[in-house]
Amino acid sequence: MTINNKSSNLPILETERLLLRSLNLNDAEDLFEYASDPEVSKYNTWTVHQSVTDTKRFLNTVVERYQNYELADWGIVHKADKKVIGTCGLANWVQDQRRAEIGYALSRKYWGKGYMPEAVRSVIAFGFRMMKLNRVEGRCTISNTASARVMEKVGMKFEGVLRQHLFAKGSFYDVKMYSILKEEWLD
Ligand SMILES: CC(C)(COP(=O)(O)OP(=O)(O)OC[C@H]1O[C@@H](n2cnc3c(N)ncnc32)[C@H](O)[C@@H]1OP(=O)(O)O)[C@@H](O)C(=O)NCCC(=O)NCCS
Repeated sequence: MTINNKSSNLPILETERLLLRSLNLNDAEDLFEYASDPEVSKYNTWTVHQSVTDTKRFLNTVVERYQNYELADWGIVHKADKKVIGTCGLANWVQDQRRAEIGYALSRKYWGKGYMPEAVRSVIAFGFRMMKLNRVEGRCTISNTASARVMEKVGMKFEGVLRQHLFAKGSFYDVKMYSILKEEWLD
């Protein structure tokens, strides 16, 4: 699954407070700072990073995906603080169905300031404009109220609960499904 013939890498997306750009190995320390936080990994399928080696391994897989022209996350740079504070991106792109799924994680220090809705809006815009998506989906476990709020704030609609849809870290989880359609999206 390629982004398109012209994009060897993700383009830079700029918002008021954030810059979304491709990640590289120099981002390891910034990423480790929050990927080593159990509160950040709690609702994600990935496990907490034990050392910066785990983070470098993750970054290598991301860079490999960029090099293979596959979808991978943007790094979210806080413009004022000049550091990577999270990731956001589209995955599970079904090209013939023109849909993909949004995913994200943010350093705990930056929670509650509306940064992720800001990043997600720009990624959704990219999905509708550049990837020609018709539907952007998002899922979160039912206990992840913060993630559900992000999706509600950007205008995604709650569609229902997928029972025991996710198996992660040894347990099954009920999952809330959200989506936004191109016809509903307002720039
Ligand atoms: C989900 C997440 C990205 C939200 O990002 P954010 O930039 O803080 O989003 P917002 O500022 O819009 O806040 C969203 C909600 O988070 C909750 N929240 C805010 N500050 C919080 C804090 N300090 N601690 C816990 N939750 C908080 C509130 O419910 C808030 O909703 P409200 O604005 O209606 O009160 C972030 O909490 C996170 O990275 N969580 C861990 C990773 C994760 O869950 N990823 C998604 C997997 S589906």
